[in-house]
Amino acid sequence: MQQRYNLIALLSLCLCLGLAESRTRPKALPITKYVYTTGSSSHVESLLGTSRPSPEAYKTVRNAFAHYEESRSLGYDLELDSREVQANETIMKAKINEYAEGEITPHLFNPSQHIFKVLDAINKTELFQLLRHMPKGAVLHAHDTALASTKVLIELTYKADLWICQQTGDLSAEAMRFAKEKPAALTDAGQNCDWSLLSDVRRERGAEAVDEYLAERLTLYPTTDFLDNNDAWTKFMKIFALLDGLLMYAPVWGEYYYKALEEFLADGVQYLEFRTLLPTLYDLEGTVYTPLDTVRIYVETLNDFMSKSENSAFIGSRMIYAPLRNTDTEGMLGYINTLKEIKEKYPDFLAGFDLVGQEELGKPLNVFIDQLLQVPDDIDFYFHAGETNWFGSTTDENLIDALLLGTKRIGHGFGLVKHPVVLDLVKKLNVAIEVSPVSNQVLQLVSDFRNHPCAQFFADGYPVVISSDDPSFWKATPLSHDFYIAFLGIASQHADLRLLKKLALNSIQYSSLSADAKYDALSKWQMKWDEFLDYVNNVSPNGATSYSSHGQSIIGT
Ligand SMILES: *[C@@H]1O[C@H](CO)[C@@H](O)[C@H](O)[C@H]1NC(C)=O
Ligand SMILES: *[C@@H]1O[C@H](CO)[C@@H](O)[C@H](O)[C@H]1NC(C)=O
Ligand SMILES: [Zn+2]
Repeated sequence: MQQRYNLIALLSLCLCLGLAESRTRPKALPITKYVYTTGSSSHVESLLGTSRPSPEAYKTVRNAFAHYEESRSLGYDLELDSREVQANETIMKAKINEYAEGEITPHLFNPSQHIFKVLDAINKTELFQLLRHMPKGAVLHAHDTALASTKVLIELTYKADLWICQQTGDLSAEAMRFAKEKPAALTDAGQNCDWSLLSDVRRERGAEAVDEYLAERLTLYPTTDFLDNNDAWTKFMKIFALLDGLLMYAPVWGEYYYKALEEFLADGVQYLEFRTLLPTLYDLEGTVYTPLDTVRIYVETLNDFMSKSENSAFIGSRMIYAPLRNTDTEGMLGYINTLKEIKEKYPDFLAGFDLVGQEELGKPLNVFIDQLLQVPDDIDFYFHAGETNWFGSTTDENLIDALLLGTKRIGHGFGLVKHPVVLDLVKKLNVAIEVSPVSNQVLQLVSDFRNHPCAQFFADGYPVVISSDDPSFWKATPLSHDFYIAFLGIASQHADLRLLKKLALNSIQYSSLSADAKYDALSKWQMKWDEFLDYVNNVSPNGATSYSSHGQSIIGT
């Protein structure tokens, strides 16, 4: 309650200030006045009179102006120590090289192209290899059945008793399912397929051909030009459907999560907060599972993962219960009951609540306000909102509801720049924006990353975290590709190691962890950060500077 009153007070304060400002704002502003009125730059103003300045005076004002503007950018407040300054030079050299080449041949600049066309080219850049080694903190926005690489998925399809439902005569796949005997025919409309053991299909058609086919079906790759955002979502949902029978098999569920955690850690991600539908699992014995069993398997798997010495750098993982938004009042009340059960039984593993599914085709938050207001105060919201280009649509206005409902972070927030008051409050209330650049491009919200709205969030110091959403579906690494795009394609040319460090720190700061847990998390991150600086600065573990040329030694590792 307290929180909501504060929010309303703050909102009315903003409104008053806004009105006062527009009443007093003069019509035409010469540059000098502009500099004066935007902030604490009176020293800039005092340098200029009302007539045209001398070139010297102009230069001084311009420097002050640029400096002041840069001082508002994300990460500017960090101070780098000497080792960081040295690493910054190497990283910036790699960045500026690519940037400068891009200016000469813009169509070859990796962030101006579709990610699918440049996956290999990105992999070969020095900047990407540096970012792969960087400890990037946490992934706070990712969906549990789209975490692990295609390689892991294909390996899982080699388990015994996996059946595949195919249309007659061709190498297709409508569904997969583990069973001792041939499963019953699928009855859904449009599903006209027959079950065969996948091992038999592999014998008949050759394992390589089958694996190649499955690999293509399990990602959106290589289609770069879906008809529109809806078309991309349709294929996207088909992947989930095909994966269901594979991943929801109880023995596979935990294994998939374990392998995903391994891949995240290897990519420099030490903590993962994932969204989950909590599907009901199955097995060959016909055991009846509940969503709480799904959580139990997560917790057991995580404990197992954390107990291994090779994973000692890992901080942990928590879940955001995020069922489908395409439901009714009764469905929503069912979700909330499940949510309360999870909170009671696994309080340490639950981060909070969200709703998922294409915002535009599901129901907006507004429809469920009565139910959502019943969620106990000790369970936080982490809503997807504004993942759209439709200004003024209900999806777009989810941003307002998400904020008024007290969301701790906003998933995507792609439309935020069109909502000035939401933006003001996002900053004042410190609500992090979970930006997933690659996802936004593949799902066709933006084509050239240089047009991504996060550029504004970086330029004006908004609380941003970078995430990957569904890296498996775009054949991307757990987080490195999104960092590469954000740093090279979205942030300013001048954005340096301070931004990268800030993004890593933000990902821990804006996680759901308690203050104490964040403290421990930061120390685990700091150890990796120190190793990273040594790596970038070519310092070997015993402290000596290694003679191997940096650029040579990293490519191909
Ligand atoms: C990082 O490197 C760039 C390029 O050399 C430089 O302009 C910038 O000032 C450096 N940043 C810091 C904080 O040293
Ligand atoms: C990048 O290259 C390395 C080898 O240099 C390879 O192991 C890895 O699979 C490649 N990753 C991608 C995303 O292409
Ligand atoms: Zn998402």
